[in-house]
Amino acid sequence: IFLLGTIYLLGVQVYEGSCLEVQYNGDKVFKITPETSEHAKYLQTLTNEWLLDLWKPKTVEQIHEGRDIHVRIPFAYVEQMKENLLQHSVPYEVIIEDIQKLIDSNSVSAPKTEKASLENYDYTKYHPMDEIYNWMDLMKEKHSEIVSQHYIGCTYELRPMYYLKIGWPSDKQKKIFFIDCGFHAREWISVAFCQWFVNEIVSNYKTDAILANVLKQVDFYVLPVLNVDGYIYTWTTDRLWRKNRSPHENGTCYGVDLNRNFNSQWCSIGASRDCRSNIFCGPEAESEPETKALARLIEKTKSDILCYLTIHSYGQMILLPYGYKKDPSPHHKEMMLVAEKAVAQMKEKHNNEYVYGSSALILYEDSGSSGDWTVEIGIKLSYTLELRDNGTYGFQLPPDLIKPTCEETTTAVMSMVEYINEEY
Ligand code: ARG
Ligand code: ZN
Repeated sequence: IFLLGTIYLLGVQVYEGSCLEVQYNGDKVFKITPETSEHAKYLQTLTNEWLLDLWKPKTVEQIHEGRDIHVRIPFAYVEQMKENLLQHSVPYEVIIEDIQKLIDSNSVSAPKTEKASLENYDYTKYHPMDEIYNWMDLMKEKHSEIVSQHYIGCTYELRPMYYLKIGWPSDKQKKIFFIDCGFHAREWISVAFCQWFVNEIVSNYKTDAILANVLKQVDFYVLPVLNVDGYIYTWTTDRLWRKNRSPHENGTCYGVDLNRNFNSQWCSIGASRDCRSNIFCGPEAESEPETKALARLIEKTKSDILCYLTIHSYGQMILLPYGYKKDPSPHHKEMMLVAEKAVAQMKEKHNNEYVYGSSALILYEDSGSSGDWTVEIGIKLSYTLELRDNGTYGFQLPPDLIKPTCEETTTAVMSMVEYINEEY
Protein backbone atom coordinates (compact mmCIF):
# COMPACT_ATOMS: atom_id res chain seq x y z
CA ILE A 1 0.00 0.00 0.00
CA PHE A 2 2.74 2.45 0.93
CA LEU A 3 4.60 1.74 -2.27
CA LEU A 4 1.53 2.08 -4.41
CA GLY A 5 0.67 5.24 -2.55
CA THR A 6 4.09 6.67 -3.24
CA ILE A 7 3.94 5.93 -6.92
CA TYR A 8 0.54 7.49 -7.11
CA LEU A 9 1.82 10.58 -5.35
CA LEU A 10 4.81 10.82 -7.65
CA GLY A 11 2.47 10.67 -10.59
CA VAL A 12 0.60 13.60 -9.17
CA GLN A 13 3.67 15.61 -8.41
CA VAL A 14 5.57 15.28 -11.67
CA TYR A 15 2.57 16.12 -13.76
CA GLU A 16 2.85 19.63 -15.11
CA GLY A 17 0.35 21.69 -16.99
CA SER A 18 -2.99 20.93 -15.43
CA CYS A 19 -4.44 23.41 -13.02
CA LEU A 20 -6.95 21.29 -11.25
CA GLU A 21 -6.10 20.54 -7.68
CA VAL A 22 -7.50 17.03 -7.70
CA GLN A 23 -5.80 14.67 -10.11
CA TYR A 24 -6.88 11.22 -11.31
CA ASN A 25 -3.67 9.92 -12.79
CA GLY A 26 -4.04 6.28 -13.76
CA ASP A 27 -7.60 5.95 -12.49
CA LYS A 28 -9.71 3.70 -14.72
CA VAL A 29 -13.37 3.27 -15.42
CA PHE A 30 -14.59 -0.33 -15.32
CA LYS A 31 -17.70 -1.56 -16.99
CA ILE A 32 -18.84 -4.52 -14.90
CA THR A 33 -21.69 -6.89 -15.64
CA PRO A 34 -23.18 -8.67 -12.62
CA GLU A 35 -24.70 -11.88 -14.01
CA THR A 36 -26.19 -13.22 -10.81
CA SER A 37 -27.72 -11.74 -7.69
CA GLU A 38 -24.56 -12.85 -5.83
CA HIS A 39 -22.51 -10.76 -8.24
CA ALA A 40 -24.77 -7.79 -7.65
CA LYS A 41 -24.60 -8.22 -3.89
CA TYR A 42 -20.82 -8.55 -4.02
CA LEU A 43 -20.45 -5.38 -6.10
CA GLN A 44 -22.67 -3.47 -3.72
CA THR A 45 -20.54 -4.49 -0.75
CA LEU A 46 -17.30 -3.67 -2.54
CA THR A 47 -18.58 -0.29 -3.68
CA ASN A 48 -19.56 0.56 -0.12
CA GLU A 49 -16.41 -0.76 1.55
CA TRP A 50 -14.01 0.89 -0.89
CA LEU A 51 -16.11 4.04 -1.14
CA LEU A 52 -16.03 3.69 -4.90
CA ASP A 53 -17.23 6.44 -7.20
CA LEU A 54 -20.17 4.83 -8.96
CA TRP A 55 -20.91 6.48 -12.31
CA LYS A 56 -23.76 4.26 -13.44
CA PRO A 57 -26.21 3.65 -11.80
CA LYS A 58 -26.07 6.46 -9.26
CA THR A 59 -26.66 4.46 -6.08
CA VAL A 60 -25.55 1.07 -4.83
CA GLU A 61 -29.15 -0.04 -4.37
CA GLN A 62 -29.66 0.23 -8.12
CA ILE A 63 -26.98 -2.37 -8.87
CA HIS A 64 -28.87 -5.36 -10.29
CA GLU A 65 -27.98 -8.52 -12.11
CA GLY A 66 -27.95 -8.17 -15.87
CA ARG A 67 -27.31 -4.42 -15.77
CA ASP A 68 -23.90 -2.95 -16.57
CA ILE A 69 -22.35 -0.73 -14.01
CA HIS A 70 -19.70 1.95 -14.63
CA VAL A 71 -17.39 2.66 -11.76
CA ARG A 72 -14.18 4.65 -11.33
CA ILE A 73 -11.37 2.64 -9.79
CA PRO A 74 -8.52 4.66 -8.26
CA PHE A 75 -5.11 3.74 -9.66
CA ALA A 76 -4.00 2.18 -6.38
CA TYR A 77 -6.97 -0.26 -6.36
CA VAL A 78 -6.90 -1.33 -10.00
CA GLU A 79 -4.91 -4.54 -9.61
CA GLN A 80 -6.82 -5.68 -6.54
CA MET A 81 -10.09 -4.94 -8.30
CA LYS A 82 -9.17 -7.07 -11.31
CA GLU A 83 -8.17 -9.93 -9.04
CA ASN A 84 -11.41 -9.76 -7.06
CA LEU A 85 -13.56 -9.74 -10.18
CA LEU A 86 -11.68 -12.69 -11.62
CA GLN A 87 -12.03 -14.61 -8.37
CA HIS A 88 -15.78 -14.09 -8.32
CA SER A 89 -16.02 -14.63 -12.09
CA VAL A 90 -17.69 -11.28 -12.67
CA PRO A 91 -17.28 -10.16 -16.28
CA TYR A 92 -15.71 -6.72 -16.71
CA GLU A 93 -14.06 -4.45 -19.21
CA VAL A 94 -11.91 -1.34 -18.79
CA ILE A 95 -13.65 1.40 -20.74
CA ILE A 96 -11.44 4.35 -19.75
CA GLU A 97 -7.75 3.61 -19.32
CA ASP A 98 -6.62 6.86 -17.71
CA ILE A 99 -9.17 9.41 -16.62
CA GLN A 100 -6.61 12.17 -16.09
CA LYS A 101 -5.43 11.91 -19.70
CA LEU A 102 -8.99 12.46 -20.83
CA ILE A 103 -9.43 15.40 -18.50
CA ASP A 104 -6.21 17.00 -19.71
CA SER A 105 -7.03 16.58 -23.37
CA ASN A 106 -10.22 18.55 -22.83
CA SER A 107 -8.78 21.20 -20.55
CA VAL A 108 -8.26 24.88 -21.33
CA SER A 109 -4.53 24.34 -21.42
CA ALA A 110 -4.73 22.42 -24.63
CA PRO A 111 -7.40 23.72 -26.91
CA LYS A 112 -6.80 21.43 -29.83
CA THR A 113 -9.30 23.05 -32.15
CA GLU A 114 -8.28 24.51 -35.48
CA LYS A 115 -4.65 25.27 -34.85
CA ALA A 116 -3.74 28.05 -37.20
CA SER A 117 -0.23 27.72 -38.51
CA LEU A 118 2.52 30.09 -37.54
CA GLU A 119 3.16 31.09 -41.15
CA ASN A 120 0.10 33.27 -41.40
CA TYR A 121 -0.15 34.30 -37.76
CA ASP A 122 -1.08 37.97 -37.73
CA TYR A 123 1.10 39.98 -35.37
CA THR A 124 -0.69 43.19 -36.27
CA LYS A 125 -3.84 42.02 -34.52
CA TYR A 126 -4.81 41.44 -30.93
CA HIS A 127 -5.41 37.80 -30.11
CA PRO A 128 -7.78 36.17 -27.65
CA MET A 129 -6.31 33.85 -25.04
CA ASP A 130 -7.09 30.54 -26.75
CA GLU A 131 -5.16 31.73 -29.79
CA ILE A 132 -2.24 32.72 -27.60
CA TYR A 133 -2.18 29.28 -25.97
CA ASN A 134 -2.17 27.74 -29.44
CA TRP A 135 0.51 30.15 -30.57
CA MET A 136 2.78 29.10 -27.72
CA ASP A 137 2.27 25.44 -28.64
CA LEU A 138 3.15 26.14 -32.25
CA MET A 139 6.18 28.24 -31.32
CA LYS A 140 7.75 25.56 -29.19
CA GLU A 141 7.00 22.87 -31.78
CA LYS A 142 8.21 24.73 -34.84
CA HIS A 143 11.29 26.26 -33.21
CA SER A 144 12.09 23.50 -30.79
CA GLU A 145 15.86 24.02 -31.23
CA ILE A 146 15.71 27.35 -29.42
CA VAL A 147 12.21 27.68 -27.93
CA SER A 148 10.77 25.76 -25.01
CA GLN A 149 7.60 26.30 -23.03
CA HIS A 150 7.45 26.25 -19.25
CA TYR A 151 4.56 26.07 -16.88
CA ILE A 152 4.74 28.27 -13.78
CA GLY A 153 1.38 27.70 -12.12
CA CYS A 154 -2.30 28.40 -12.31
CA THR A 155 -4.40 31.51 -12.24
CA TYR A 156 -7.20 32.00 -9.75
CA GLU A 157 -9.65 30.51 -12.27
CA LEU A 158 -7.31 27.57 -12.78
CA ARG A 159 -5.83 28.40 -16.14
CA PRO A 160 -2.17 27.61 -16.74
CA MET A 161 0.47 30.34 -17.01
CA TYR A 162 3.46 29.70 -19.22
CA TYR A 163 6.61 31.44 -20.32
CA LEU A 164 8.72 30.75 -23.37
CA LYS A 165 12.44 30.30 -22.96
CA ILE A 166 14.40 31.29 -26.04
CA GLY A 167 18.10 30.67 -26.50
CA TRP A 168 20.62 28.08 -27.58
CA PRO A 169 21.02 25.24 -25.13
CA SER A 170 24.34 25.52 -23.32
CA ASP A 171 26.42 23.70 -20.71
CA LYS A 172 27.54 26.90 -19.10
CA GLN A 173 25.38 29.13 -17.00
CA LYS A 174 23.53 31.59 -19.20
CA LYS A 175 22.28 35.03 -18.37
CA ILE A 176 18.57 35.67 -18.39
CA PHE A 177 16.73 38.60 -19.94
CA PHE A 178 13.26 38.45 -18.45
CA ILE A 179 10.18 40.01 -20.05
CA ASP A 180 6.62 39.72 -18.86
CA CYS A 181 3.43 41.05 -20.41
CA GLY A 182 -0.24 41.12 -19.60
CA PHE A 183 -0.08 42.10 -15.93
CA HIS A 184 -3.03 44.38 -16.49
CA ALA A 185 -5.86 42.89 -18.46
CA ARG A 186 -6.85 45.86 -20.59
CA GLU A 187 -3.31 46.69 -21.71
CA TRP A 188 -3.60 44.60 -24.85
CA ILE A 189 -0.63 46.16 -26.61
CA SER A 190 1.59 44.67 -23.92
CA VAL A 191 0.52 41.14 -24.82
CA ALA A 192 0.85 41.92 -28.52
CA PHE A 193 4.40 43.09 -27.88
CA CYS A 194 5.48 39.87 -26.18
CA GLN A 195 4.21 37.91 -29.15
CA TRP A 196 5.83 40.29 -31.60
CA PHE A 197 9.14 40.09 -29.79
CA VAL A 198 9.23 36.29 -29.76
CA ASN A 199 8.42 36.25 -33.45
CA GLU A 200 11.16 38.77 -34.08
CA ILE A 201 13.74 36.49 -32.46
CA VAL A 202 12.67 33.26 -34.13
CA SER A 203 12.46 34.99 -37.52
CA ASN A 204 15.93 36.53 -37.34
CA TYR A 205 18.25 34.38 -35.30
CA LYS A 206 19.50 32.49 -38.34
CA THR A 207 20.43 35.59 -40.31
CA ASP A 208 21.20 38.26 -37.72
CA ALA A 209 24.76 37.77 -36.46
CA ILE A 210 24.35 39.93 -33.38
CA LEU A 211 21.22 38.10 -32.34
CA ALA A 212 22.79 34.72 -33.02
CA ASN A 213 25.63 35.66 -30.71
CA VAL A 214 23.32 37.01 -28.04
CA LEU A 215 21.35 33.75 -27.97
CA LYS A 216 24.54 31.89 -27.08
CA GLN A 217 25.07 33.96 -23.93
CA VAL A 218 21.54 34.94 -23.02
CA ASP A 219 18.21 33.16 -22.57
CA PHE A 220 15.10 35.22 -23.05
CA TYR A 221 12.29 34.35 -20.72
CA VAL A 222 9.11 35.76 -22.23
CA LEU A 223 5.84 35.45 -20.34
CA PRO A 224 3.15 36.70 -22.77
CA VAL A 225 0.17 36.82 -20.40
CA LEU A 226 0.42 36.80 -16.63
CA ASN A 227 -3.14 37.87 -15.89
CA VAL A 228 -4.85 35.25 -18.05
CA ASP A 229 -8.21 35.41 -16.27
CA GLY A 230 -8.36 39.19 -16.50
CA TYR A 231 -7.28 39.16 -20.13
CA ILE A 232 -10.06 36.75 -21.04
CA TYR A 233 -12.51 38.89 -19.09
CA THR A 234 -11.58 41.89 -21.25
CA TRP A 235 -12.51 39.83 -24.32
CA THR A 236 -15.77 38.49 -22.97
CA THR A 237 -17.21 40.98 -20.53
CA ASP A 238 -15.43 44.21 -19.72
CA ARG A 239 -12.84 45.63 -22.12
CA LEU A 240 -11.48 47.96 -19.46
CA TRP A 241 -10.91 45.43 -16.71
CA ARG A 242 -7.45 45.80 -15.14
CA LYS A 243 -7.07 43.38 -12.22
CA ASN A 244 -7.15 39.62 -11.92
CA ARG A 245 -10.43 37.84 -11.16
CA SER A 246 -10.27 36.60 -7.58
CA PRO A 247 -13.43 37.23 -5.55
CA HIS A 248 -13.37 39.13 -2.24
CA GLU A 249 -15.72 39.93 0.59
CA ASN A 250 -18.09 37.06 -0.13
CA GLY A 251 -17.98 37.61 -3.85
CA THR A 252 -19.20 41.19 -3.67
CA CYS A 253 -16.14 42.53 -5.50
CA TYR A 254 -13.49 41.10 -7.74
CA GLY A 255 -9.86 41.46 -8.57
CA VAL A 256 -6.48 42.32 -7.12
CA ASP A 257 -4.08 44.65 -8.93
CA LEU A 258 -1.22 42.23 -9.51
CA ASN A 259 1.21 45.14 -9.71
CA ARG A 260 0.33 46.12 -6.13
CA ASN A 261 0.48 42.61 -4.76
CA PHE A 262 4.25 42.02 -4.60
CA ASN A 263 6.08 41.80 -1.34
CA SER A 264 7.80 45.17 -1.44
CA GLN A 265 6.45 47.84 0.90
CA TRP A 266 3.15 46.12 0.22
CA CYS A 267 0.12 48.40 0.30
CA SER A 268 1.97 51.28 1.92
CA ILE A 269 1.41 53.90 -0.76
CA GLY A 270 -0.46 54.29 -4.05
CA ALA A 271 -2.54 51.19 -3.41
CA SER A 272 -5.91 50.55 -1.88
CA ARG A 273 -7.32 48.10 0.65
CA ASP A 274 -10.75 48.46 -0.87
CA CYS A 275 -11.41 45.55 -3.18
CA ARG A 276 -13.61 47.69 -5.40
CA SER A 277 -10.59 49.82 -6.22
CA ASN A 278 -8.62 49.33 -9.42
CA ILE A 279 -5.45 49.40 -7.35
CA PHE A 280 -6.60 46.93 -4.69
CA CYS A 281 -3.44 45.44 -3.16
CA GLY A 282 -5.12 42.21 -2.08
CA PRO A 283 -5.62 40.73 1.41
CA GLU A 284 -1.85 40.30 1.83
CA ALA A 285 1.37 40.40 -0.18
CA GLU A 286 1.50 37.60 -2.76
CA SER A 287 -2.07 36.63 -1.96
CA GLU A 288 -2.75 35.99 -5.65
CA PRO A 289 -1.71 32.81 -7.44
CA GLU A 290 -0.50 34.84 -10.43
CA THR A 291 1.78 36.98 -8.24
CA LYS A 292 3.05 33.96 -6.38
CA ALA A 293 3.84 31.95 -9.51
CA LEU A 294 5.80 34.80 -11.07
CA ALA A 295 7.61 35.63 -7.84
CA ARG A 296 8.68 32.00 -7.32
CA LEU A 297 9.98 31.75 -10.90
CA ILE A 298 11.94 34.97 -10.57
CA GLU A 299 13.30 34.05 -7.14
CA LYS A 300 14.45 30.68 -8.43
CA THR A 301 16.35 32.22 -11.35
CA LYS A 302 17.28 35.61 -9.92
CA SER A 303 21.04 35.06 -9.74
CA ASP A 304 21.06 34.75 -13.54
CA ILE A 305 18.58 37.51 -14.35
CA LEU A 306 20.47 40.56 -15.55
CA CYS A 307 17.47 42.52 -16.64
CA TYR A 308 13.80 42.37 -15.74
CA LEU A 309 11.28 44.11 -17.99
CA THR A 310 7.58 44.34 -17.33
CA ILE A 311 5.48 45.67 -20.18
CA HIS A 312 2.44 47.89 -19.60
CA SER A 313 0.52 50.62 -21.33
CA TYR A 314 -0.01 53.46 -21.80
CA GLY A 315 2.07 56.62 -21.47
CA GLN A 316 5.29 56.10 -23.47
CA MET A 317 7.63 55.81 -20.54
CA ILE A 318 10.57 53.81 -19.35
CA LEU A 319 10.15 53.66 -15.59
CA LEU A 320 12.94 52.99 -13.13
CA PRO A 321 12.60 51.98 -9.49
CA TYR A 322 11.44 52.96 -7.05
CA GLY A 323 7.74 53.44 -7.02
CA TYR A 324 7.32 53.56 -3.26
CA LYS A 325 9.95 56.23 -2.63
CA LYS A 326 11.68 58.99 -4.51
CA ASP A 327 15.23 57.88 -3.66
CA PRO A 328 17.34 56.42 -6.45
CA SER A 329 17.83 52.64 -6.57
CA PRO A 330 21.32 51.08 -6.22
CA HIS A 331 22.14 51.12 -9.96
CA HIS A 332 20.29 54.25 -10.79
CA LYS A 333 23.03 55.94 -12.84
CA GLU A 334 23.67 52.90 -14.97
CA MET A 335 19.96 52.32 -15.43
CA MET A 336 19.45 55.90 -16.54
CA LEU A 337 22.18 55.56 -19.16
CA VAL A 338 20.67 52.37 -20.52
CA ALA A 339 17.21 53.96 -20.60
CA GLU A 340 18.54 57.05 -22.34
CA LYS A 341 20.00 54.92 -25.12
CA ALA A 342 16.79 52.95 -25.47
CA VAL A 343 14.72 56.09 -25.75
CA ALA A 344 17.08 57.47 -28.39
CA GLN A 345 16.69 54.27 -30.42
CA MET A 346 12.94 54.54 -30.23
CA LYS A 347 12.97 58.13 -31.37
CA GLU A 348 15.12 57.17 -34.33
CA LYS A 349 12.77 54.39 -35.36
CA HIS A 350 9.45 56.22 -35.71
CA ASN A 351 10.22 59.64 -34.32
CA ASN A 352 8.10 58.90 -31.27
CA GLU A 353 8.95 60.35 -27.88
CA TYR A 354 9.31 58.31 -24.71
CA VAL A 355 10.31 59.72 -21.35
CA TYR A 356 12.35 57.93 -18.72
CA GLY A 357 13.06 58.27 -15.01
CA SER A 358 12.12 57.01 -11.55
CA SER A 359 8.57 55.82 -11.33
CA ALA A 360 7.76 57.81 -8.19
CA LEU A 361 9.11 60.96 -9.80
CA ILE A 362 7.72 60.87 -13.32
CA LEU A 363 4.57 58.74 -12.89
CA TYR A 364 3.17 58.38 -9.40
CA GLU A 365 4.04 56.66 -6.17
CA ASP A 366 3.03 53.04 -5.81
CA SER A 367 3.96 50.05 -3.72
CA GLY A 368 4.01 46.30 -4.15
CA SER A 369 5.03 46.49 -7.82
CA SER A 370 7.10 43.85 -9.55
CA GLY A 371 9.52 46.56 -10.70
CA ASP A 372 10.41 47.45 -7.10
CA TRP A 373 10.35 43.92 -5.79
CA THR A 374 12.82 42.63 -8.38
CA VAL A 375 15.32 45.34 -7.39
CA GLU A 376 14.89 44.53 -3.74
CA ILE A 377 15.70 40.86 -4.26
CA GLY A 378 18.90 41.90 -6.02
CA ILE A 379 18.19 42.00 -9.73
CA LYS A 380 20.40 44.64 -11.22
CA LEU A 381 18.32 46.18 -13.98
CA SER A 382 14.57 46.46 -13.67
CA TYR A 383 12.33 48.52 -15.90
CA THR A 384 8.62 49.03 -16.28
CA LEU A 385 7.76 50.04 -19.84
CA GLU A 386 4.61 51.95 -20.63
CA LEU A 387 4.03 51.58 -24.35
CA ARG A 388 1.90 53.77 -26.65
CA ASP A 389 0.10 55.97 -26.70
CA ASN A 390 -0.20 59.22 -24.77
CA GLY A 391 -3.94 59.04 -24.35
CA THR A 392 -5.43 59.54 -27.81
CA TYR A 393 -6.64 55.96 -27.83
CA GLY A 394 -5.32 54.84 -24.48
CA PHE A 395 -5.94 51.17 -23.82
CA GLN A 396 -7.86 50.83 -27.09
CA LEU A 397 -4.80 51.41 -29.21
CA PRO A 398 -5.98 50.57 -32.75
CA PRO A 399 -4.50 47.47 -34.39
CA ASP A 400 -2.74 49.49 -37.08
CA LEU A 401 -0.57 51.01 -34.36
CA ILE A 402 0.57 47.60 -33.12
CA LYS A 403 3.29 47.39 -35.76
CA PRO A 404 5.01 50.74 -35.15
CA THR A 405 4.65 50.36 -31.39
CA CYS A 406 6.19 46.91 -31.39
CA GLU A 407 8.93 47.93 -33.79
CA GLU A 408 10.08 50.84 -31.66
CA THR A 409 9.80 48.79 -28.48
CA THR A 410 11.86 46.02 -30.05
CA THR A 411 14.66 48.47 -30.86
CA ALA A 412 14.57 49.69 -27.26
CA VAL A 413 14.69 46.19 -25.84
CA MET A 414 17.45 45.14 -28.23
CA SER A 415 19.54 48.12 -27.20
CA MET A 416 19.21 46.95 -23.59
CA VAL A 417 20.05 43.40 -24.59
CA GLU A 418 23.14 44.50 -26.46
CA TYR A 419 24.21 46.57 -23.50
CA ILE A 420 24.08 43.64 -21.09
CA ASN A 421 25.65 41.33 -23.63
CA GLU A 422 28.64 43.62 -23.98
CA GLU A 423 28.89 44.66 -20.38
CA TYR A 424 28.38 41.36 -18.55
N1 ARG B 1 1.09 51.82 -14.70
C1 ARG B 1 1.69 50.77 -13.93
C2 ARG B 1 0.90 50.53 -12.67
O1 ARG B 1 0.19 51.41 -12.23
C3 ARG B 1 3.12 51.02 -13.70
C4 ARG B 1 3.60 51.13 -12.33
C5 ARG B 1 5.08 51.19 -12.29
N2 ARG B 1 5.56 51.29 -10.97
C6 ARG B 1 6.75 50.92 -10.58
N3 ARG B 1 7.02 51.03 -9.32
N4 ARG B 1 7.62 50.46 -11.41
O2 ARG B 1 0.95 49.47 -12.12
ZN1 ZN C 1 -0.24 48.31 -16.33
